[in-house]
Amino acid sequence: MTTISEFQVRKDKLDETRLIERPAPALQNGEVLAKVDRFAFTANNVTYGVVGERIGYWKFFPVEDECWGVIPVWGFADIVASRHPDIAVGERLYGYWPMASHLVMAPGKIKHERIADAAPHRADLPPVYNNYQRVNNEPGYGGKMDDDRMVLFPLYATSFCLYDFLKDNDWFGANQLIIPSASSKTAIGTAYAIKGDDAPPSLVGLTSPRNRQAVEALALYDTVLTYDDLEQVDADRPAVIVDMSGNGDVLGRLHKHLGDNMRYTSNVGLTHFDANEMGPDFIRERSAMFFAPGHIQKRTQDWGLGEFEKRAAAFWHEAALKSRDWLTIRKETGCDAVTRAYENVLNGKTPADSAWVVGF
Ligand SMILES: NC(=O)c1ccc[n+]([C@@H]2O[C@H](COP(=O)([O-])OP(=O)(O)OC[C@H]3O[C@@H](n4cnc5c(N)ncnc54)[C@H](OP(=O)(O)O)[C@@H]3O)[C@@H](O)[C@H]2O)c1
Repeated sequence: MTTISEFQVRKDKLDETRLIERPAPALQNGEVLAKVDRFAFTANNVTYGVVGERIGYWKFFPVEDECWGVIPVWGFADIVASRHPDIAVGERLYGYWPMASHLVMAPGKIKHERIADAAPHRADLPPVYNNYQRVNNEPGYGGKMDDDRMVLFPLYATSFCLYDFLKDNDWFGANQLIIPSASSKTAIGTAYAIKGDDAPPSLVGLTSPRNRQAVEALALYDTVLTYDDLEQVDADRPAVIVDMSGNGDVLGRLHKHLGDNMRYTSNVGLTHFDANEMGPDFIRERSAMFFAPGHIQKRTQDWGLGEFEKRAAAFWHEAALKSRDWLTIRKETGCDAVTRAYENVLNGKTPADSAWVVGF
């Protein structure tokens, strides 16, 4: 009998975790059992936990005791048992998995290139998370970029969305773009995308002192400043802020410093999730949350089915190859490895030029 190992976190206290082992349930007609091969873990996944209640991330892989939740991760899995006529054992899928060894899925829409998990509890959740790519049907798939894809695809696809969104809005009238938490991979992807534009705004990266050198070494930002020095940003130039940090103090100081020249802030991330209180200097009326799945849905309507994926994949592929110059992927296996990756990222101890890929 198959045993499922699952890494759970307390929803209201993310540093409390437990490992649960339980027998896999008997498959019903139409269900398949996926064995999660390995997955990436970055600050993005911690954010899923931080906003799990607000945005619904706990709903993907619910736990009976509602105090506990399972954080979703991006990775690969192989079908090891099937009671579905069109999904065979051996099928390999890329997509959104629980931090667990296995997932029982109920494939709904089946296309040559992807399947959707139609489990009833996922019906109202964004489609981008319910779709799984059938990688063996991808032309040229050989697994050589699996690790890059797990770590970077969801982040760089967001970077591509951000570039597309900002450009579509004529940079909100700004000629400088400021990115707090500039060492995060989503920020770096955004910098790659912006640097590829014909007439890009200048880029200012804000980071912590320990990551300054790594951010400077990328040579992507025109200026790199630490949070302590953010008042050195040129306040005479109109600016747009793409914020990965969610840091109330940083944003408040930046908004006060820029005043009317703070044209727009896109609130993308929460890497500094324990400093998320916005103070009186934060300009709410020119700030808005950015949700990549929402932008993808909009572009799917504008451009037609599959076109966003095509453009994002082309961008990701090129940027991922460039990222091999600086990114070290730390690969480990076993329950202890999963716990180690989680604690390391949660506590901000993973160096900016590294990322974890782990599996049970
Ligand atoms: N809205 C959306 O649709 C969307 C989509 C994708 C990603 N995101 C968000 O973008 C953010 C970046 O994700 P990522 O996976 O790219 O991050 P990442 O590469 O893992 O980011 C690492 C960096 O984040 C900062 N950091 C991480 N943990 C920290 C901690 N505990 N304390 C202080 N600083 C910490 C540090 O940067 P500094 O020292 O430079 O601050 C660190 O170098 C996440 O919040 C993620 O949810 C949002």
